[in-house]
Amino acid sequence: MNARFTGQTALVTGAAGGIGSAIARALAAEGARVGLIDFDAQAGGRLEASLRAQGRDACFAQADVSRFDACQAAYDLIARTLGEPGILVNNVGISPKTAGRALKVWEMPPQEWDRVVSVNLNSAFYLTRLASPGMVRERRGRIINMSSVAGKAYCDIVAAHYAATKAGLIGLTRHWAAELGEYEVTVNAIAPGRISTPLLKTVPQEINDAVTRVTAMRRLGTPEEVADACLFFASDEARFVTGQVLDVAGGWLMT
Ligand SMILES: NC(=O)c1ccc[n+]([C@@H]2O[C@H](COP(=O)([O-])OP(=O)(O)OC[C@H]3O[C@@H](n4cnc5c(N)ncnc54)[C@H](O)[C@@H]3O)[C@@H](O)[C@H]2O)c1
Repeated sequence: MNARFTGQTALVTGAAGGIGSAIARALAAEGARVGLIDFDAQAGGRLEASLRAQGRDACFAQADVSRFDACQAAYDLIARTLGEPGILVNNVGISPKTAGRALKVWEMPPQEWDRVVSVNLNSAFYLTRLASPGMVRERRGRIINMSSVAGKAYCDIVAAHYAATKAGLIGLTRHWAAELGEYEVTVNAIAPGRISTPLLKTVPQEINDAVTRVTAMRRLGTPEEVADACLFFASDEARFVTGQVLDVAGGWLMT
């Protein structure tokens, strides 16, 4: 078996979701110890148990990543249990809709705006703030931010808060790549297109079908296809790749 991550600790946020769990499983399958952070205690606990049953080292920490103190407690538990992570995947993200529809600016409750910014964007800062000192000290690190094609091109399926946070993650990717490069820490982003996960169920099926029709590959992506790109950025093969955004979108939008 190809085990590119033996001896390394990885931390994945939103780890119990469609893409997060595929990334956690793929990293674990290649030898990484995986720290799992998610709001959903049941799904997170199940993932931890299933990885352990396969003989993998995994540690689940329940946390609401929109709060720094919760991120700190989860990070500390994982670092104590598995060692400080050299791979950080800022994967968590939400895209709220109301009755299957993205709200316009004049309809948007400020609380919803704040929630999306804190879950999608602030959490990436919180976890990177916590994990980067260890990476700088070790002079090795991989940070992968989960953006979206909706952070690069206008997409009417999502609301402005989602697009703004996903564009913000690209800004953070470039800025942190510049700050951390001299310490051999790379920072890259993935921009998935339409990927078959529970998040897609926030909109009616016709909308997903319409995307499929204008996607070059005429299908939705799978979480495993996003995980493959993530593992590339996390690997040694990508050691001189930093500040980049990779679309994993089957040719949708081609941003
Ligand atoms: N599915 C897609 O088509 C798609 C496209 C582009 C980008 N993305 C991005 O990929 C990432 C993963 O998406 P997914 O499709 O797997 O979504 P998902 O809904 O399947 O998973 C999201 C996970 O995040 C967790 N979560 C939500 N709020 C949290 C909080 N406050 N604290 C801790 N955990 C929290 C949820 O419990 C869930 O397990 C997101 O950043 C999303 O924006 C997804």
